Amino acid sequence: MHKIVFVTGNKGKFAEVRDILKAFGIEVIQNKDGYPELQEDELEPIAAYGAQYVANNLIMPVMVDDSGIFIRALNGFPGPYSRFVEDKLGNPKVLKLMEDEEDRTAYFKTVIGYCEPGEEPLVFPGVVEGKIAYEERGSGGFGYDPIFEYQGMTFGELGDAEKNKVSHRRRAIDKFLEWFESKT
Ligand code: IMP
Repeated sequence: MHKIVFVTGNKGKFAEVRDILKAFGIEVIQNKDGYPELQEDELEPIAAYGAQYVANNLIMPVMVDDSGIFIRALNGFPGPYSRFVEDKLGNPKVLKLMEDEEDRTAYFKTVIGYCEPGEEPLVFPGVVEGKIAYEERGSGGFGYDPIFEYQGMTFGELGDAEKNKVSHRRRAIDKFLEWFESKT
């Protein structure tokens, strides 16, 4: 069985990635030590740098996941600053910012960074389009899931198994798997 170290302190992310990759015979080991996060406007360089940094430290194949929610009416905010905004404002204040906005469209994006020791890092992006709800709905998932509507239901209402079939993270991991399976 292949083993990959997944560096994240986020329980929700870890559970999603572990469940998706288990079905493909890949064991995911959680590492909570973190990595230096570049201050960038794009997720790709943050994920690439993080994966390479940890792969060379641990001498193991390493995966990281850098994600964010991009709200069109707010010019893509909070995007790469999603964690900071969740910690400092939370969903109720994000909804308040959106109070008078008619354009509710938004997307979630995940960039999976993957690196083997001594190699160059690779990045695999995945996007899912949806809308910002008018109130929080559902208790599933984590983070922005209760305010992100996908085809009429929030990710919070959808439940983990359904979210895992369509999410930005699933789409990024599918791209990773396509590459991984072609090389093994
Ligand atoms: P980071 O990639 O760990 O920096 O996460 C960025 C922010 O987006 C954090 O506040 C996460 O909770 C949130 N986030 C990341 N992925 C998801 C998701 O799949 N659903 C909801 N929120 C997410």
